Amino acid sequence: MAAFGTVFTNEMILSRFENNSWSQPAVVATDSISLHPGAHVLHYASTCFEGMKAFRHADDSVHIFRMDKNVARLQQSSELLALPQIDAAMLSSMITEIVRRYAADVPMPPGSMYIRPTHIGTEASIGKAAAPSLSSLLYVLLSPVGDYFAGGAKALRLLLEDNARCASHMGMVKSGGNYASALQPIMKARAAVQADQVLFCPNGDVQETGAANFLLIDGNEIITKALDSSFLHGITRDSILTLARDRGMTVSERELTVDELLERAVKPGAEAALSGTAAVLTPVGTLIHAGKEYQVGGGIAGTTTASLRQALNDIQWGRAADTHGWLTKVS
Ligand code: PLP
Ligand code: COI
Repeated sequence: MAAFGTVFTNEMILSRFENNSWSQPAVVATDSISLHPGAHVLHYASTCFEGMKAFRHADDSVHIFRMDKNVARLQQSSELLALPQIDAAMLSSMITEIVRRYAADVPMPPGSMYIRPTHIGTEASIGKAAAPSLSSLLYVLLSPVGDYFAGGAKALRLLLEDNARCASHMGMVKSGGNYASALQPIMKARAAVQADQVLFCPNGDVQETGAANFLLIDGNEIITKALDSSFLHGITRDSILTLARDRGMTVSERELTVDELLERAVKPGAEAALSGTAAVLTPVGTLIHAGKEYQVGGGIAGTTTASLRQALNDIQWGRAADTHGWLTKVS
């Protein structure tokens, strides 16, 4: 299978914001946009995006997972980047229209159609370093995908890093600049200790990795950082916590320090996992900190992690009742 996110449908849907209004959304060739080289996004990073998935069920119907939450988060990211305001109904209908048009290309589970709404500032003004772009482009890209982590459900190695992933007031914005600031630490961790990902823990505060949230599972308890502006409020995180509560687990959303994590993670019954649209729920087998390696759950995938991942997939794939109303049927 091709690498995650490298295959695109031939068309996407877009709308432009100009002179204070959005254009009628139009389906265009995916490679058809052009930008002025002075566009705001290319200089001052006025860009945000979303990632959600559409799934094919056994009866061939196609369903988008938690579209409303992703639309709301793109609205929030746009607002925090001072990009033009997005109308939720307009974006939702753009998403459903393009997914419906390419419903035949939605892979069977475990594959899915990854949906990437993107919002960029297009005003040609290289003087606007401290002023917002008055024009923008909103488009929805589609990419049929398989597993994000090439190793499938293999337990990951994480390097705990003392620095932050991004500026503390930008963490809840899903914006390219945050990924750019995490890139060198991740590349260094790969080269130095063969880590798959970096777990960012500024001042000992366990936050998130470069593209997923972090969960510690200890017996019947699931522990993860409480929401604040420093990290991305994952929709998979929220879904997994909801499923954990449904099955009577204790969900502790609170501060988790590196010291507590390393102490608890090595105990019998402990598990750790990364949650995200691309990552789904991927087990963590090794934590690396200050030159020492800590095996979580003996270094292999934990059973609670596997069963929560299955419970999430069962809803997404139409094999369990959608009791929380997370799916939007598009075809
Ligand atoms: N944190 C970061 C930095 C991410 O890029 C992602 C991926 O989307 C997540 C967390 C998980 O968010 P979600 O579950 O909404 O995909
Ligand atoms: C997602 O899970 O949707 C992400 O954004 C991760 C990604 C950077 C591939």
